[in-house]
Amino acid sequence: MYLVTGATGGIGRRIVRLLREREQPVRAFVRLTSRYGELEQRGAEIFIGDLREDKDIQKACKGVQYIISTHGSGIDAQALDYRANIELIDQAKEQGVQHFVFISVLGADRGYEDAPVFKAKRAVEKYLEASGLNYTILRPSGLASNLIPLAEQFRQTGIYLLNGDPKNRTSIVSTDDLAQIAVDSFTIEGARNQIFPVGGPDILKREDIPRIFGRIFNREPIVINPPLLVLDGIRNAIGFVNPQARKGLGTFRTLLANEFFCTKSEITNLELIYNLKLESLESFVRRYLGD
Ligand SMILES: NC(=O)c1ccc[n+]([C@@H]2O[C@H](COP(=O)([O-])OP(=O)(O)OC[C@H]3O[C@@H](n4cnc5c(N)ncnc54)[C@H](OP(=O)(O)O)[C@@H]3O)[C@@H](O)[C@H]2O)c1
Repeated sequence: MYLVTGATGGIGRRIVRLLREREQPVRAFVRLTSRYGELEQRGAEIFIGDLREDKDIQKACKGVQYIISTHGSGIDAQALDYRANIELIDQAKEQGVQHFVFISVLGADRGYEDAPVFKAKRAVEKYLEASGLNYTILRPSGLASNLIPLAEQFRQTGIYLLNGDPKNRTSIVSTDDLAQIAVDSFTIEGARNQIFPVGGPDILKREDIPRIFGRIFNREPIVINPPLLVLDGIRNAIGFVNPQARKGLGTFRTLLANEFFCTKSEITNLELIYNLKLESLESFVRRYLGD
């Protein structure tokens, strides 16, 4: 039995689909408020709980052999990115789980002080490495599925809101490729006890993204690029009423202020180990939204 957390998220949903296509038994950890109908229809066992509750994690882990942690956190990195994953790893040990796949983030090891999600991911990576479990840690850059709403908006208006420095580099990864890599990590020998940066085949500048959309939808992009100072102002104002939200926005600011891309050799290595050809952002968006 595979346990998938974040099963209704961009990555988790695709992982459940893939596992079910391969006729594997899957337990999908969802919340009562999650949109899990599709997962149920595909034959996943639905476990309703909250990852903030250790007792829910303990119950969900009963009898599983494989765990894939893909859940996100919103602004509560301490409870979800950190505590919930530590509890999942502890339970994995107790249950004698055969392999644990953890979705981390590219740059988790760069020591960003002001980014709670990055700090939590790095702490969990270290805990997993030291756990004695078989593991694979995947550090994706930006996910292509997150750009679908922006691409839809662009199709209608031609407007693209470009946050951060337009010249900063990124390697947007196809969320379908990432899901396949996560699932194949259980069986590919070269993936055991490894950490992989995961990106798409191209190193893009942020300003390339509206150009790609322009090509796909055949319209001239109107790019709006607010300076980071605007975000800093909003963040400080929010901090007066909600210090927790201010901290959460630190992760967002870190994402905007830095470059997140994989080198060519990292991509070649990934393609070799997982025996796949990574998909470009353009191909991903065309597949989902093209005519
Ligand atoms: N997005 C990116 O560009 C990116 C880049 C690098 C790494 N990552 C990492 O990749 C992973 C997945 O990202 P994503 O964008 O696919 O996530 P997502 O679409 O935002 O999904 C988050 C998932 O976590 C679940 N979740 C949140 N709080 C929960 C709770 N208290 N109890 C149970 N489930 C809860 C959500 O359930 P509901 O459906 O109920 O909300 C949802 O299924 C995350 O670990 C993220 O840090 C993301």
